[in-house]
Amino acid sequence: MNKNISLLSHPLIQHKLTLLRDKQTGGKEFREMVGEIAMLMCYEATRDLPLQEVEIETPVALAKAQVISGKKLAFVPILRAGLGMVDGVLRMVPAAKVGHIGLYRDPESLHPVDYYVKLPDDIREREVIVLDPMLATGGSAVEAISVIKKHGVRHIKFMCIIAAPEGLKTLSEAHPDVQVFCAALDDYLNDHCYIVPGLGDAGDRLFGTK
Ligand code: PRP
Ligand code: URA
Repeated sequence: MNKNISLLSHPLIQHKLTLLRDKQTGGKEFREMVGEIAMLMCYEATRDLPLQEVEIETPVALAKAQVISGKKLAFVPILRAGLGMVDGVLRMVPAAKVGHIGLYRDPESLHPVDYYVKLPDDIREREVIVLDPMLATGGSAVEAISVIKKHGVRHIKFMCIIAAPEGLKTLSEAHPDVQVFCAALDDYLNDHCYIVPGLGDAGDRLFGTK
């Protein structure tokens, strides 16, 4: 597998993903599971954050200890379904800022259409992790990352729960500098560009719109 792609096979992630895929899983559990998986994935995706040494005083003695240093983080969910991952990642990194990019796939052409972009003012000074549970054709991810790069951001990661081989290929060709984290690499896209076996429409299952 491409060195820029990390498949997160932790048993907790895989167990929760199985519950997510199950069509019997209702909206409440589905939302909880997306949040928990995002939290666990965030732990892995931030493994390379730099640390610096500080001196603190415990109740017992002075101690040298580590804190995160350097670049600050921003999370950018792709609306709508990426919203389901925000609470989970903010639990891990509460100081991060959050930007939003609204895209939908045109049902005829299947191309992404932008309808909303709101990013933190200092986004160019931050490392950005883009969030979307589904990487299908890759069109939405490629477009969202292009928008973020136009704002001057140089360090971008992409975190999705399920990826299709087609989307991974498209994304890594369009943005070879972006590291991709996913919990599963599925088989293929069907005629409607849904991921097989996938989990259905993530936005609809999160927000009960179908
Ligand atoms: C879904 C999903 C991704 C996109 C992936 O969103 O959340 O953003 O499809 O497909 P792609 O890789 O082929 O671009 P959708 O367009 O259904 O919008 P929604 O989140 O508002 O439901
Ligand atoms: N978007 C989804 O929500 N599910 C898919 O399978 C593909 C795109």
